Amino acid sequence: MTPTPTPTPAEATPAAAATSTATATPSADAPPAAALDAWRVLSLDLPRLHADLAAGRPDAFAARLAALPPLTGADLDALADDLARLAALDVLMVEAVARRHRLDLPPRTAAAVADAVGAVARRCGIPPILSYPLYIRVNPTDMAAIRRFTPLAAEFRFIRMHRLIEDVFDRLIAGLDRVLDAPDRAAALAAAMPGLRADFRLVNRTMAAFRSPARIDRHAFVDGFRPYFEPVLDPATGRTVLEGPSGLQSPTYRIIAMQIGYRDRVMDGWTDRIAACHDPATRARLAAARAARDAGRSLTAVCDAVLGPAPDLPHLHPAYAADIPALLGAALAGGYVSPDIVATFAHFALPLGEWPAEAPADGEAPPRMAAPPVAPVGRATLADLAEIEAMLFGMHLEHAAVAAVQIGAVRGTGGTSGVEFLLLATFRRAFPRLWLSGLGANLAGGLGG
Ligand code: HEM
Repeated sequence: MTPTPTPTPAEATPAAAATSTATATPSADAPPAAALDAWRVLSLDLPRLHADLAAGRPDAFAARLAALPPLTGADLDALADDLARLAALDVLMVEAVARRHRLDLPPRTAAAVADAVGAVARRCGIPPILSYPLYIRVNPTDMAAIRRFTPLAAEFRFIRMHRLIEDVFDRLIAGLDRVLDAPDRAAALAAAMPGLRADFRLVNRTMAAFRSPARIDRHAFVDGFRPYFEPVLDPATGRTVLEGPSGLQSPTYRIIAMQIGYRDRVMDGWTDRIAACHDPATRARLAAARAARDAGRSLTAVCDAVLGPAPDLPHLHPAYAADIPALLGAALAGGYVSPDIVATFAHFALPLGEWPAEAPADGEAPPRMAAPPVAPVGRATLADLAEIEAMLFGMHLEHAAVAAVQIGAVRGTGGTSGVEFLLLATFRRAFPRLWLSGLGANLAGGLGG
């Protein structure tokens, strides 16, 4: 599941190193393709330049930056979208390096960087800062072509493990689409369960691996490559002007969340906010998933179809703490969370079930309600849904634990409080009525047996 440490891309293949030397000092009147190539070569060389930069010797990097040919909109207009996004990755990684090391660039170089940043942002319809979709999704997985800031094996794994999860998210989306588009959704769900089980176990275990020092050493993360993910702050007020790369910007997670049926103002508020960091096609995809959810295309609707009409219940509420023990038991029984998860939370003095202080106050507690009579076939569907809720709950627990280990009390690069924000998800329910009727806890007790 986890790749072994590797040398830097430039060291990995002699061909890459040769390209790098050949184009290290491109001329200012180079043709457009050469301008793109020059930015790409510098981006690929970042791991090799990192040691000097980290030691406070920026001259080699600054000289390479000053020698880059101007990159303009005209260079990018003719490119296919995927190549334009790759160019954006290159330019925005180089910009992140200059910003992180607070380089005092000559005005001409600073203007050339700003122009290149503006050109890729306009061409791709994205903000002028590196984003999670670029760094994790657009980044090639090929070892000789992968872009990274440092030669650290931890960064290589960080990208590859994230990418693995994103690839599984793609598969989950396709599987959930099949369920939601089926004429008999309950039967399609039963057929999809083995795939969902395997995929969520893979996602949650990969997530858990992010807290292993052997995979992602904390020092390498916190001092090595996370500083390149910092947001842009207003120097006068300290307020965030542009959010840095964060898993918060993962569109695939949001689509799964909407397919399952999460619907609350925290979730939707962040979906709106992060939409800006996506290209127009992804923004349209997110909007379509949300409209479909609101029109009843979600697993919440499958649940409601079994339980009958119900009042509009909140999906996020402090009262849902009551179901945490049942969900935890089901997640442990199903292999959706690590056996040491409770000890990890205790170690970081993070009490499960305590509504985070920064979280918005929410309305009245939803009423606990009597369970309606359910036929055995409907009961089997509800058991599937309770298990899916446990899969998601396990993912949220693993994620919050990773953040506790890796960043502690520090704020997230995406603009949230960090661990507190992630813990909020343990109070989110895709199937509120299932839990409020007591059926969820009842069925969860029988899972994994
Ligand atoms: C070292 C590893 C990780 C750390 C420290 C971390 C930290 C965080 C933090 C602090 C947030 C809150 C948003 C912010 O302010 O940035 C967040 C959100 C998020 N992260 Fe991670 N994360 C890690 C790994 C992952 C992985 C492997 C994924 C898988 C795709 C992921 C997906 C997400 C998602 C989907 C959100 C939004 C959650 C929500 O809206 O409830 N993260 N992460």
